[in-house]
Amino acid sequence: SAGSEFVVVANRLPVDLETLPDGGTRWKRSPGGLVTALEPILRGNKGAWVGWPGLPDVDVDPIVEDGLDLYPVKLSAQEVADYYEGFSNASLWPLYHDVIVKPVYDRKWWAAYVEVNRRFADATAKVAAQGATVWIQDYQLQLVPKMLRMLRPDLTIGFFLHIPFPPVELFMQMPWRTEIVEGLLGADLIGFHLPGGAQNFLYLARRLAGQPTSRGNVGVRSKLGVVQVGFRTVRVGAFPISIDSGQLDELSKSKSIRDRAKQIRKELGNPTNILLGVDRLDYTKGIDVRLNALRELLEEDRVDPEETVIVQLATPSRERVDSYVQMRGDIEQQVGRINGEYGRVGHPVVHYLHKPVPREELLAFFVAADLMLVTPLRDGMNLVAKEYVACRSDLGGALVLSEFTGAAAELRQAYLCNPHDLDSVKDAMIDALTQDREAGRRRMRALRRQVLTHNVDRWARSFLTALSHGGVAGSALM
Ligand code: G6P
Repeated sequence: SAGSEFVVVANRLPVDLETLPDGGTRWKRSPGGLVTALEPILRGNKGAWVGWPGLPDVDVDPIVEDGLDLYPVKLSAQEVADYYEGFSNASLWPLYHDVIVKPVYDRKWWAAYVEVNRRFADATAKVAAQGATVWIQDYQLQLVPKMLRMLRPDLTIGFFLHIPFPPVELFMQMPWRTEIVEGLLGADLIGFHLPGGAQNFLYLARRLAGQPTSRGNVGVRSKLGVVQVGFRTVRVGAFPISIDSGQLDELSKSKSIRDRAKQIRKELGNPTNILLGVDRLDYTKGIDVRLNALRELLEEDRVDPEETVIVQLATPSRERVDSYVQMRGDIEQQVGRINGEYGRVGHPVVHYLHKPVPREELLAFFVAADLMLVTPLRDGMNLVAKEYVACRSDLGGALVLSEFTGAAAELRQAYLCNPHDLDSVKDAMIDALTQDREAGRRRMRALRRQVLTHNVDRWARSFLTALSHGGVAGSALM
């Protein structure tokens, strides 16, 4: 066949294969912000998606799923351990998130990362039509732009990083830092959430790829937003991602979700204050921070355990990576401690789930929550904060938001806090809980204006426009 004109390449397909108790398998929606953001765009554009189906060693044929062609890339169990759990999530993930836990660097993991990136590049080269546009996603695939360009110089290649790009001092730890920067420079356009990430990258491109090294790289000249790699021009810019805010706004007004929200309130014993956290169970998310803040507020009698509950919905994630196992234990201990000290039989303070929650149920929780707690120690964007805002068409509720999220750059009317400063988190929570009704509505109105006008469609269009025009796209490029 002639191939696809538009190809998204991501570690995961938008759907995940899941093993059932009887040994069979079924598809379910993949976790995380990347899929949340890209799904609606791809469905509307008849594109192809190259990705891993989420289980080791499975052979799956390409699938056509309402207007979307899915091309599964197979990973062996060893590759899942070395490329995915190892290099992607025990080296890159912590390094790019301010080394909240210590990254581990392992040559064997790196070798698997190179090998798997090559497989993704090969698969994409087969799927893409002559002159097609390919959009590569996230930290798991940073070598694909260069590998793909060598195979298919006819393609237009974009890359977007969904997580933070770290300060230079931290990135320099990476033993394969030059290879990664050069891998990314294979793209025509490299997108980050924030101008700061783009700046970090530009500096590194000058410093690393610009130096002649024994690895034989090309000379690089960079100025604001543009890196000259030999005869090619690579553009670098900030494109803050978003959500399908219009759809969430609509859904949150539906009778079924409103009714379910009321029912949730009742099930929780009609407390005055429902606090809510919604995260993948990840050490970057600061779930421990908000639980600590709440415990101290209870201890100091600033929050009444009879009138307050917190619901923490935690989606299981990367469960075989050590730091995640450890984190889960810590959080579950904290939950137990708070309930042990401040709960009654039949009336716990913390309601904690460690399981995926269906989408509509999640929206009902957003509608029901008086206070949304988003307290990451570092987060590229955080779409949950935007989803909460999009669901509050009633102008109710309040958002406590960590300054260390990308979202904080846009959501200035949230109750901002520093998650490293527990007093700042506690004060933000109290300010939000005691806010005057009108002031709260004003804040929510301002937050909603931002989220409803800056939706995911606008994000994708601004990236793809910049990619295809080769020019500077408005304010998106720095
Ligand atoms: C974040 C990353 C995504 C990743 C998602 C879920 O949103 O940016 O690339 O897919 O987390 O993590 P997982 O490891 O389950 O794919």
